[in-house]
Amino acid sequence: MQIKSIQFKYLEYENHGQLSESFRELASFAKKATEMSYAPYSNFYVGAAIRLSNGQIIKAANQENASYPCGICAERAALFSLADLFPNNKIEAIAITASNKANTMISPPSPCGLCRQVMAEFEILNGQNFRLLLCGNNGTVFQFESVKDLLPLSFDPKFLS
Ligand code: THU
Repeated sequence: MQIKSIQFKYLEYENHGQLSESFRELASFAKKATEMSYAPYSNFYVGAAIRLSNGQIIKAANQENASYPCGICAERAALFSLADLFPNNKIEAIAITASNKANTMISPPSPCGLCRQVMAEFEILNGQNFRLLLCGNNGTVFQFESVKDLLPLSFDPKFLS
């Protein structure tokens, strides 16, 4: 028997002023995307913005439904809308932000397990890691070098073959 451990490092920025210009722009697109959120049931407004290697930024927000499981998270809405642009372009980074009704959700939001799994497969298709920025609405940003850091031992498409 062996004890094994998995560790990862991430960056924490105190405010958007510390971000590179390109990350600052991506974070602002994620914030803008929250305005497209349809979240009358949870009142939790999530925005995701994806930067592609051709410079384009694709954004999306969570979309809910009275039949609750029909809804989709912002991250997956953004990724699944990429079909005509991907994989001809690489994903360079994804920024995610969220706010609640009272706007008190100040710490960086953390993507749900389904979105982590979907992002993990997109990263495999991407052929290279993409950075993940989790943007709190008090300005704090967590930066991860790979989505794999947030989903170690993820379900791998290779398992199926
Ligand atoms: N949500 C996202 O958009 N992304 C996540 O990673 C977690 C949750 C949405 C789904 C639902 O519309 C609302 O947040 C509350 O769960």
